[in-house]
Amino acid sequence: MSERRLIAVYPGSFDPLTNGHLDLIERGSRLADELIVAVLKNTGKQPLFTVDERLDMIREAASHLPNVSAGTFDGLLVDYAAKRQANVILRGIRAISDYEIELQMALLNRRMRPQTETIFLMAREEFSFISSRMIKEIITLGGDVTHFVPATVLRRLQAKLEHS
Ligand code: PNS
Repeated sequence: MSERRLIAVYPGSFDPLTNGHLDLIERGSRLADELIVAVLKNTGKQPLFTVDERLDMIREAASHLPNVSAGTFDGLLVDYAAKRQANVILRGIRAISDYEIELQMALLNRRMRPQTETIFLMAREEFSFISSRMIKEIITLGGDVTHFVPATVLRRLQAKLEHS
């Protein structure tokens, strides 16, 4: 009998990666045999970081986790999950406000591809108020985001600001 491996995709924009994302990656990597952090291309949103920069950030911040890799996708998440033979989609929930949209996505994804189960992890309390959008706003307005993002992301944010 072949051994069942848990291959999880953790999708998102990651613009930029936050400590909340990294916490989820670390916890997800303990649950899954393989965890693929998947950056969505072509969101329609105007991103601060290019897809390649976001991939680099993820790879640098997760370099201590041997079963974590980073990839990109466009089109439907469930199609990417199928292509990567993933049986799990991993998402984080910070507050009730996240729940509604996450429930909708999970149900739609399940209808489209029942073989892929969405698993939610609750964000750690200290990260439950962090979002990429707020981090961009705070640093643009001169605030300190040291405690909210990995060191590699902080350096890249500061470099972006200097060159803007
Ligand atoms: O970090 P984000 O921006 O909240 O991530 C949203 C993401 C990438 C998970 C979501 O937009 C997504 O899965 N997009 C891919 C297109 C898709 O599959 N849409 C149908 C989902 S119901």
